[in-house]
Amino acid sequence: MPLVSMRQVLDEAAKGKYGVGAFNVNNMEQIQSIMEAARETKSPVIIQASRGARAYSQDRFLYHLMIAATEVYPEIPTVLHLDHGNSPETCFSAIEMGFTSVMMDGSLMPDGKTPSTFEYNVEATRKVVEAAHAKGVTVEGEIGCLGGIEDGHGTGLDGLSHLTDPGQAVEFVKATGLDALGIAIATSHGAYKFSSKPTGETLKMARLIEIHKRLPDVHLVMHGSSSVPKDLQDIINQYGGKLKPTWGVPVEEIQLGIKNGVRKINVDTDNRLAITGAIRKVFAEKPEEFDPRSYLKPAREAMKKVVALRMTQFGQAGHANDYKPISLETMANRYAAQPVAV
Ligand code: 13P
Repeated sequence: MPLVSMRQVLDEAAKGKYGVGAFNVNNMEQIQSIMEAARETKSPVIIQASRGARAYSQDRFLYHLMIAATEVYPEIPTVLHLDHGNSPETCFSAIEMGFTSVMMDGSLMPDGKTPSTFEYNVEATRKVVEAAHAKGVTVEGEIGCLGGIEDGHGTGLDGLSHLTDPGQAVEFVKATGLDALGIAIATSHGAYKFSSKPTGETLKMARLIEIHKRLPDVHLVMHGSSSVPKDLQDIINQYGGKLKPTWGVPVEEIQLGIKNGVRKINVDTDNRLAITGAIRKVFAEKPEEFDPRSYLKPAREAMKKVVALRMTQFGQAGHANDYKPISLETMANRYAAQPVAV
């Protein structure tokens, strides 16, 4: 099956009332971990690459690895999504390369850290929607800004200074015609999100619920949604790492989000932690090893375990074969039949 549109995967998730994890990748092992977890749990897949990941892996390698994923796992509907496109041009180059979904993050200026104006965000996002939809490609936008900085994206603040305003979210969706909306509810990228376990109040879940009430048909996206589990932190620290105590987003809060319109959940840090812990363990326990496979295999297995668990917790497990893929051409025709209101 060719790479599929994210819109279709999220529409199906909305029908089935479940969420779909969007896992970041930079290399072959991470792609393999996700696809193996998907096969094991029979889950649809969203694989996402940031600008940093595209530069690291080089576009052509990434693209062909993704094509390999669709060949080796033909039964899994698989989306290739651009995470945090910083400008329309970055989104266009991703579409050109074969991404089936792009995020235009116009909440920040192209430097990836300066909050932009509402007008700038609408203009940049709308421009991407027009070009992407003409090719059947899905668009995610963002209103409000995330904290932290990962791959050059985030305000660098604590995630509280630019929460999503529900009224503005409604206006934004109407003006852009996007498919999925990233919202800021006090999450941030990276391992250091909270200094104690966050509650629904810390996380501004009431705001998320309010946004869903006002936009019941829009697929909401939770960014910065790693749970930063203590056991993964402990493995790293046990084998010579120096992580400071930290808390992520509890899975039960994500599940509450899924009950309230969240269809895409972005996870990167948990997988980074799993990989690093597994590699540190081999280095500490078998210092005589020097074959990269001796540590990359356990790393791949550790990431697969985290991804399979999240797929089950988000509810996407068991849904890989619910539907037949709709071609991007058909998606483009559907979009053309419903132009964005001016
Ligand atoms: P985490 O750092 O919480 O994994 O967030 C990843 C993310 O939101 C990518 O866009």
